[in-house]
Amino acid sequence: MKNAILCAAFCLSLPLSAQQTATVNIHADQGSRIIPKEIYGQFAEHLGTCIYGGLWVGEDSPIPNTQGYRTDVLEALKRLKVPVMRWPGGCFADEYHWMDGIGPKENRPRMVNNNWGGTVEDNSFGTHEFLNLCELLGCEPYISGNVGSGSVEEMAKWVEYMTSEQGSPMAKLRLENGREKPWKVKYFGVGNESWGCGGSMRPEYYSDLYRRYSTYCRNYNGNQLFKIASGASDYDYNWTEVLMRNIGHRMDGISLHYYTVLGWTGSKGSATQFSDEDYYWTLGKCREIEEVVKRHMAIMDRFDPKKQIALLVDEWGTWWDEEPGTVPGHLYQQNTLRDAFVASLTLDIFHQYTDRIKMTNIAQIANVLQSMILTRDDKMVLTPTYHVFEMYNVHQDATYLPAEVECTYKEVRDRRRVPLVSATASRDQEGRIHISLSNVHLTDTEEVTVRLEGLKAKSVEGRILTSERIDDYNSFDQPARVQPKAFKDARITNEGLRVKLPAKSIVTLEVK
Ligand code: AHR
Repeated sequence: MKNAILCAAFCLSLPLSAQQTATVNIHADQGSRIIPKEIYGQFAEHLGTCIYGGLWVGEDSPIPNTQGYRTDVLEALKRLKVPVMRWPGGCFADEYHWMDGIGPKENRPRMVNNNWGGTVEDNSFGTHEFLNLCELLGCEPYISGNVGSGSVEEMAKWVEYMTSEQGSPMAKLRLENGREKPWKVKYFGVGNESWGCGGSMRPEYYSDLYRRYSTYCRNYNGNQLFKIASGASDYDYNWTEVLMRNIGHRMDGISLHYYTVLGWTGSKGSATQFSDEDYYWTLGKCREIEEVVKRHMAIMDRFDPKKQIALLVDEWGTWWDEEPGTVPGHLYQQNTLRDAFVASLTLDIFHQYTDRIKMTNIAQIANVLQSMILTRDDKMVLTPTYHVFEMYNVHQDATYLPAEVECTYKEVRDRRRVPLVSATASRDQEGRIHISLSNVHLTDTEEVTVRLEGLKAKSVEGRILTSERIDDYNSFDQPARVQPKAFKDARITNEGLRVKLPAKSIVTLEVK
């Protein structure tokens, strides 16, 4: 009721800047579920300059590198605590033949990247380069196998090549290519978007192919694969239903792709030029992911009430028109404070459903869609989305604390409603409580009462991400325009905290 009344007032007359109030109730004495660090997963595809130029420049490059990986990017990703990285696609995965990407670089055949701009791929970044990168970052690899245009034998041999101990034919080949020890590969995707770029299949046919291909993805020498079926896009609930029925517990997980695009303008919309209405609509569309995952999970619950099959949102994020002047098909886009909100609101939602959602992978890690990092020659910028992931990484593997938010809602077109405040909280292994709060309002401050049930706070400190304008971004000329700063507007009260959240800001607090 309060929401409705406040919203009516809010929608009728909008002062230039005012103050709203909200209450966040955090059950600090509860919490039984861990937020898997894999919720903070990344996705690296052979698409545009994500791999070449973004992650990899090669050992002979004048750009400072560590064994061919950009040193600046490597260091930035270490600070991010990347838990898992999906590769080599995306759509690219179903045209990728892994044997082209091993052995001496000069012998590796070239191919045309048909999905992404027809760029010639020289295969200089292959299995060794990817898995060694994961080792350097201390993250789990998530390999997407080729079902669309690859054979069962090819997929089976890839698993053997990566994970079998000395002596097997593929382990011998691996040794010839300079690597004796197998890598640890847990996550293995059996195809990608098999309903579309991965083979234009019907769910019944894909289910049969999944059963066939996955049979030959063996567990070698104690390496236990977590096999992931290529799941639905957005609202395709039938795809999930058919796979749950026909594949069932032969899969450890099923994926889901959900992108936030501007659905009503005829194009995806510009990354940097948008109206206030576009902004709020975007947040409504982003928040709709909650309804979408709930419906997919309800179907999964019918077939798998014990929740043994995970839902993995292995592609999500904003998808805008390509940056003018960039190579068509390379999906390069800028990243503003608006994208940062899509990240914070989506992560807040994922935290609530980790009884089923065990991994998510934002698309993509560098130079494509909602990236963490943008590079140009030897320059690198960290995007507002990077900063959200960095501020939020305190929640990785922490205990989720249930929380309720009471706040004003903004009504936007297409019957979407956006709560002006979003929140999430967790307790880490040292007993520290971390609270992330987003005030999405473009002009109004939020006075937030945070009730901490079962906890008397002794100290609070925090960091804030905001900027003058919602369309501010970090460019190669102004790389530090949007970046976190110390936050001083949280004080301890009898019931918990009182926090003054500036308009369009994201804050993470640490309470001891
Ligand atoms: O992330 C870009 C593309 O989006 C991926 O390659 C594909 O899986 C999806 O359609």
